[in-house]
Amino acid sequence: MNNPNLRAVLTGTGAYLPAKRLTNDDLSRMVDTSDEWIYPRTGIRSRRIAAEGENVSDMAAAAGRQALENAGARPEEIDLLVLATITPDTPLPASSCLVQTRLGLSNATCFDIAAACSGFIYALDVARQYILSGAARKVLVVGAEKMSAITDWTDRTTCILFGDGAGAVVVERSEGGTQNGILSSATGTDGTLAPLLHIEAGGSAMPTTAETLAARKGFVRMDGHTIFKYAVRNMAGIADKAVTDAGLRHEDIDWLVPHQANMRIIQAVAKTMDLGMEKVVTNIENTGNTTAASIPLALHEAVSDGRIKDGDNVLFASFGAGLTWGATVVRWGR
Ligand code: UT7
Repeated sequence: MNNPNLRAVLTGTGAYLPAKRLTNDDLSRMVDTSDEWIYPRTGIRSRRIAAEGENVSDMAAAAGRQALENAGARPEEIDLLVLATITPDTPLPASSCLVQTRLGLSNATCFDIAAACSGFIYALDVARQYILSGAARKVLVVGAEKMSAITDWTDRTTCILFGDGAGAVVVERSEGGTQNGILSSATGTDGTLAPLLHIEAGGSAMPTTAETLAARKGFVRMDGHTIFKYAVRNMAGIADKAVTDAGLRHEDIDWLVPHQANMRIIQAVAKTMDLGMEKVVTNIENTGNTTAASIPLALHEAVSDGRIKDGDNVLFASFGAGLTWGATVVRWGR
């Protein structure tokens, strides 16, 4: 920890989106809604939906494989895999164990993290802590979700929001004196607000029964209006803290890569951080809210098309069920 040259550096990104696209017009044939209602309120026009039999471990493996290739890392070099998801293939074992097998990560310790939309930020923070403590050298961090499996397709207040997908990054230990890598990481939780965004049944407190199925208790329920307010306040607050902890000012941030929950939330956070929308990476229009996958998906797009360049200061910020929130500042480059 005391070596000033020690850094956790992001060396490769990857992403996966299922082929099937569900548009707002498609949704308007399923529930009482319209593109005219959805797009201005959320910024979403379409989202991807996993195929029958396509699971979180499949999507996570696809994104992870691409991140390994882009990092130039061999599977056996990975000593830790952290998978952020609230939609694992099965309750047991952790889906990260299935991803390990698919990718041949024979030397990796693997576990899942359930922190909803903040899952990727939490997982990245765990990777950073493992690397700075000397416990790991190369870490694969994946955010992957099959939100379509826990969405109530008869509830117009939630089913318009979510989508499926996966994103991944490789994080490596560097002692070579690079100025790049993770500059700061900040996280927060407030469990007193858990009922604002939750799934009532399907866990050990209320196992699935014919009654819970009939009452549709196994799906996401949300007080969207209240969540909206907390999202803006807490994302902006934690983003500001991460920037300060990194020794930077708002104007030093080249790119904000926010969790893609709602375009209006993203715009409000950007405004608070004094960032014009030209500095904000958004893909919500075509992905919807992919929970733990949203930040690494957007990040991969902006790195792949050359928007994010070496030396750029990149800010990630998230907010989600728990309630949970977090932010990371990364100086891009190896
Ligand atoms: O990932 C992190 C967690 N999630 C979030 O951050 C989401 C945060 N919240 C939101 O993005 C917004 O609250 C929503 C987009 C979910 C909802 O927008 P809103 O402006 O807060 O709408 P509302 O819930 O206050 O509903 C307004 C009206 C209601 O009708 P009445 O009661 O005013 O007659 C709803 O019944 O809109 C109605 N409504 C709809 N109408 C057409 C709700 N959903 C729909 C819909 N289509 N899909």
